[in-house]
Amino acid sequence: MTDSEKVREELLTHIATSDAPHEFLRAYQLRALADDIKNIPPEKRAEAGRALNELKKEVAAAVEKRQAELLDRDVEQIDVTAPMDINSDSPSLLPAENGSIHPISREIQTMSDILGRMGFTVFESRELDDQYHMFESLNFPAGHPARDDFDTFMTVQKDKDGEPLIAPAHTSTMQNRILRQLKPQLESGQPIAAASIDRVFRNEDLDPRHEHTFYQCEGIYVDKGIHAGMLVATLKTFLESYYKKSLDVRVNPFYFPFTEPSFEFSMSCPFCDGEGCGVCSHSGWIEILGCGMIHPNVLKMADIDPTVYTGFAWGVGIERLIMMKHGIEDVRYFQSAKLDFLRQF
Ligand code: DAH
Repeated sequence: MTDSEKVREELLTHIATSDAPHEFLRAYQLRALADDIKNIPPEKRAEAGRALNELKKEVAAAVEKRQAELLDRDVEQIDVTAPMDINSDSPSLLPAENGSIHPISREIQTMSDILGRMGFTVFESRELDDQYHMFESLNFPAGHPARDDFDTFMTVQKDKDGEPLIAPAHTSTMQNRILRQLKPQLESGQPIAAASIDRVFRNEDLDPRHEHTFYQCEGIYVDKGIHAGMLVATLKTFLESYYKKSLDVRVNPFYFPFTEPSFEFSMSCPFCDGEGCGVCSHSGWIEILGCGMIHPNVLKMADIDPTVYTGFAWGVGIERLIMMKHGIEDVRYFQSAKLDFLRQF
């Protein structure tokens, strides 16, 4: 065996099992062969040079092959998408098909489908907004006491008026944008029918019914001649489709700056069908959402003439709706990554 053949065999064997194969590209044996060329008789040097180049190419190919093998092996070991059962003693990862869609995502899809079939265009909201959309555009002028009911988180970033950008405390922040965007529909004789679903944030003390981060669904409907009876009928239809049963509904007067009149909307308890149970505190009723006729100032702020058009709006907590549907007793489960909880969906 020539020196070159010996080196070839040795290197290829080592590379095939090495964890750092690229180091062999600069193997001292290759350098020794190169240094040796000057000692070879001149007539054989060219051939030795070619053989050495061939060997280097072979080594490079073997290194590349080994690197690909290592990559495959590492990817198999760490599947970052695999669900892991933290409650199990088994250290092994579970097969990916045991994953499931998060209940909030799944139910948002169901609600969007129902709203879509009812003629509402569903928009995404945003998770950072300015004070104008959070307050002014909704008829909370500066210093309005009702601003305190929507205490949320501020960022250090400023909006164009120099006010801090905030994590929106409700999806109503989308009303002005949606009204402006869809206003041309009104002018062409079609209603504005839109919903907006996204995450909202509140500075809350956490308990089984309060989270600092949760989801809301906002709805708005504007046209000529819209009245509160239509609001009640629309919400009844939506809730009955979602709970897949007929429900009694009722409204009580309430206060929001952005609606006049404002209502607190209740439905008969979908758990006990109004008989009275633990879920409805034995009253048979569940207060489920806030709603009302859009305040004329809110329409004006979107350049819609409130003497021509009227509309209704509502806002509902998504987790609350889901909890009522599935008998979930603690809102904090949703964000907890509790697999025993999530796997039920
Ligand atoms: N934004 C209100 C809240 O988070 C809910 C709400 C009430 C939305 C009445 C509306 C409405 O659009 O008309 O408490």
